[in-house]
Amino acid sequence: MKFNLQSKRPANQKIDLHIITTVSTGSGKTKSFSTLPAEFKAVASELKKREFSAAKDSQVLIFNNGHKNIRYVLVLGLGDHKNLTLEHFRLAGATARKNAAAIKSVNVTGDIVQKATKSFSDADQIQAFVEGFILAGYQFTRYKKGSKETIKTLTLEGATNSKNKNAIKLAEVLCEGVCLARDLVNTPAEHMAPVDLAKAAKSLTGVTTKVHNLAAIKKMKMGSFLSVAQGSTAKPPYFIEMHYKPKTKAKKKIALVGKGVTFDSGGLSIKPSKGMETMKMDMGGSATVISIMSILHKLKPNVEVSGYVAATENMVDGHAQRPGDVCTAMNGTTIEVLNTDAEGRLTLADALTYANRKKPDYMIDLATLTGACLVALGEEFSGLMGNDETLIEKIKECGDATGDLVWHLPLPEQYNDQLKSSIADLKNIGSGYGGTLTAGLFLQNFVGNTKWAHLDIAGPAWTDRGGGYKTKGGTGTMVRALSKLITSF
Ligand code: BES
Ligand code: ZN
Ligand code: ZN
Repeated sequence: MKFNLQSKRPANQKIDLHIITTVSTGSGKTKSFSTLPAEFKAVASELKKREFSAAKDSQVLIFNNGHKNIRYVLVLGLGDHKNLTLEHFRLAGATARKNAAAIKSVNVTGDIVQKATKSFSDADQIQAFVEGFILAGYQFTRYKKGSKETIKTLTLEGATNSKNKNAIKLAEVLCEGVCLARDLVNTPAEHMAPVDLAKAAKSLTGVTTKVHNLAAIKKMKMGSFLSVAQGSTAKPPYFIEMHYKPKTKAKKKIALVGKGVTFDSGGLSIKPSKGMETMKMDMGGSATVISIMSILHKLKPNVEVSGYVAATENMVDGHAQRPGDVCTAMNGTTIEVLNTDAEGRLTLADALTYANRKKPDYMIDLATLTGACLVALGEEFSGLMGNDETLIEKIKECGDATGDLVWHLPLPEQYNDQLKSSIADLKNIGSGYGGTLTAGLFLQNFVGNTKWAHLDIAGPAWTDRGGGYKTKGGTGTMVRALSKLITSF
């Protein structure tokens, strides 16, 4: 699909679908479309008949009654212009894509920029719309043919300047990252084992990847990571590191650490079958990290970025760790494993230790870590914890701007008591409520004094329903937000 800009739609352009966004004044009154060009006469009268007020999420698809060049017109209401956010444009883009596909469009145009809004540039609006348009059309086609793609071009009205052109390019690059993350998550665990994550990391452009095998992991004494991996002799673990360096001197060094449990059966503290159905997604954090790394050579940030993934399954063969076993993490901390289903933090403990030894300025981990985070924040928000207010604030801003929503949660010192073990330095589960926070506190033992943020993406990494620009399955959450963060330095 090609994305174009044009300053004005030529009168003779042959189009299957033309998209118009509109805002309301919030009064709920029928909107006057008297300013629509004469060729949309049929549209204007239809909108009037339907008392179209441009309310948020409203849409009207109209057959442009016999017009010789424009087959259909889609009018999208964005709601009260005072409440407009970029997310409205992403959702408009998603609705546009679905309608365009439904009527088998080939060439689509859009007049979507709202001039009245002062908060967002034309470029921001164009970028958001294109993101929604691309992401809503994602299909996972590895095992089943997708519906045939008919759309060849989307041409948006806007100044053909470099700002707007770059906005389109940026949207395309970011969505390439998001779609890779979705592919990685959607691939069943049988075909997305630790070795496959390593292959994905090795295939990246502009990134140096190093993969450590089981023997190397043992040599590095990653005992916490290994305690999880030992029950999965059939699919051995890999420790993956990826490095991106900018051409000029790096302003900062950022470490991204992703949970890469390619299947979480729970181990001997086994999950009920319902709880296991979606556990191929337990590598969602690593999917986001690998996908961000995959687009860095196009985003060209001024920072050095390293990605780390301790990839393993959490399985139950005869070598599996038992509840009550004690392991020794890479940094010497002993951990009593009372619940083998709290495995993510065990893999992350050593990944964080490893990442931290490279002395990054900032360390951010992403993990589908706790069911409790889903209970607390639902499917739309990631839990955000950490030890540095400025970093937390920055991530929050990037999340708000991109629609990868996060909510700041505390790391209450007084809950550390819950992680005390009578026979080891730590135990791997808390003793009460607040499971997301005790998981975060557990991780804090492995980050030293480095500025660190932890994102529990258990909710947003996956959706059973889809909707908007999300499609059923993996979402690629936080790819766009953290890319924004990385390019902001
Ligand atoms: N991978 C799960 C968390 C999860 C659950 C992610 C549902 C997405 C959806 C994690 O490894 C886990 O099982 N956590 C346990 C921790 C508990 C044993 C302290 C949980 O949340 O139940
Ligand atoms: Zn688990
Ligand atoms: Zn897990």
